[in-house]
Amino acid sequence: MRRLLFCVLACALLSACAGSGPNTSDSGSEPTTPAGPWNEGVHLAAESQERGDPVEGRRMLLGGPFMTCGIPWKIWENPAFQGLISQGFGGAANAPTLPGREGKNAGLPYYLNVFTAQDGAEVVNANCLLCHGGQFDGRVVIGLGNANADFTGGFGDPGTGGALPPEVLATLGLDDKEEEHFTKMLTRGAIVGEATAMRTIGMNPAEMLAVILMVHHDRDTLEWSDEAVTPIVPRDHNGDVIADYKLTSDPPPWWRVHKKNAPFYNGMARGDHRGTMALATSVCVDDVEQARQVDTWFRDIQAFVDSVRAPRYPRAVDPLLAAEGETLFSGNCAGCHGTYAENEDDETYPNLLIPLDVIGTDPAVAEAGVVHNPELVEWYNASFYGEITQMEPADPFPGYMPPPLDGVWATAPFLHNGSVPTVDLLLNSSARPTRWRRVDLDTTNFDEEALGWPWVEVGVPQEEIEDESERKMVYDTTYWSQSNAGHPFGDHLTAHERRAVIEYLKTL
Ligand code: HEC
Ligand code: HEC
Repeated sequence: MRRLLFCVLACALLSACAGSGPNTSDSGSEPTTPAGPWNEGVHLAAESQERGDPVEGRRMLLGGPFMTCGIPWKIWENPAFQGLISQGFGGAANAPTLPGREGKNAGLPYYLNVFTAQDGAEVVNANCLLCHGGQFDGRVVIGLGNANADFTGGFGDPGTGGALPPEVLATLGLDDKEEEHFTKMLTRGAIVGEATAMRTIGMNPAEMLAVILMVHHDRDTLEWSDEAVTPIVPRDHNGDVIADYKLTSDPPPWWRVHKKNAPFYNGMARGDHRGTMALATSVCVDDVEQARQVDTWFRDIQAFVDSVRAPRYPRAVDPLLAAEGETLFSGNCAGCHGTYAENEDDETYPNLLIPLDVIGTDPAVAEAGVVHNPELVEWYNASFYGEITQMEPADPFPGYMPPPLDGVWATAPFLHNGSVPTVDLLLNSSARPTRWRRVDLDTTNFDEEALGWPWVEVGVPQEEIEDESERKMVYDTTYWSQSNAGHPFGDHLTAHERRAVIEYLKTL
């Protein structure tokens, strides 16, 4: 943005964009936005948040015991098992370490924590960066969605098919506590793993994970059961069972959180936000007392997540083209996505929920808790977590929030379901490919013109591709919940105008 300052001034002098920026933020200023599709949106109001200490939150996140159970360190220590365990979590054993971590954590892949659990056992589990720590241009970025995680084998399942037979377990040299942790992880991993297997690398099972965790926990006591406690039968609008219920999600970057009054793509989280963040830890939770302990740490974690900001685009930007793009953005996009400035206090973000018929993107995530599985929302709201954060996916209607576009250049693929490989295609809906394949997983191989991943079109349905390593690189938009339709708001732009808007987005 700094580089752009002079252009912004020039633009203001020309008065082309002066005064046209929308301001429906919480500052109370009168909206000055021209009429547009944003008028169909409804503002979601800010609610007070209990925030702890962001420094403590970072330390907890990158080395603390908030996951409460894990694979014994003794098992991890054996290099023969590291590949298997990492793969079970959807990561790689040779993923980079993070500078600034302490003790044994300093040598672990960035998405794993080693910690001493309440019972004294030293264990390893994934931290939030498994899904919320990605790489861009070869560098780990805290808060960026991890688009290289491979959940095609399910989440948390190292492939043992459940607990080990006692005679095998006995050969591992574990004490009783460690055996208990290991058995718990393998048993739950197998249950969760099956439900969370995704079709494509980078596609994230968080929605399916939330579903399976609720299904296996007693709502009132949070006691885990290997059998489903609250079986669910996802249904479509006609009440018919959805056969292939697999919701895919693209983890959003954490630097959006400080601007959003209601987290999640569909803006469903209301009240204090830490309850839904903590739900990811419930895989290990067995009672309310334990959940309450975890919650005390989440005030700090929430404060850290709130403090995350987007990095700057690491490559060159054409300032004149970007200035042209800023004017176009003000007239066509800012009403929904907000305005951006060098100084954060000068920015606005309207916090709108856009109804499904206006945004037109795949409705499955927005409707999951409203049409397909309303019983899960009831479960959540009546549980311990619902006391902290309420899920309101239909308030005032199911829809999606236009995300803040800070650092959006780093967040390919696009849309909540990751169905669009580049911003250029996001702004040109008729050009989007039905089936496409990412060229590779190299985060330095990045298309600066189209702003996103290099891709090639695929002619055959994904399920017909025999070779697994090839198949899991493909995104097929014909599956339920994976449509790439909607967001037509860039369609009327010329190719040059689209390039200009893209150039501007690099400055955010
Ligand atoms: C298995 C992957 C996964 C893990 C682990 C995970 N998340 Fe997420 N998270 C997601 C996905 C995917 C979404 C988007 C879901 C949606 O909005 O529908 C999300 C959404 C969020 C959001 C809302 C962001 C926004 O822009 O609205 C926050 C905040 C968040 N996660 C925090 C956390 C924290 C803190 C942890 C660790 C305790 C965590 N997550 C663990 C995948 C994960
Ligand atoms: C009517 C409101 C509205 C307008 C106008 C609008 N958008 Fe969006 N935009 C949204 C919503 C809602 C989403 C999220 C949709 C989803 O994920 O299903 C979105 C998503 C995006 C994304 C994808 C973010 C990501 O990481 O997945 C980008 C980029 C974007 N918009 C850019 C633009 C640009 C540039 C313009 C102007 C040409 C524009 N939008 C106009 C509502 C709008």
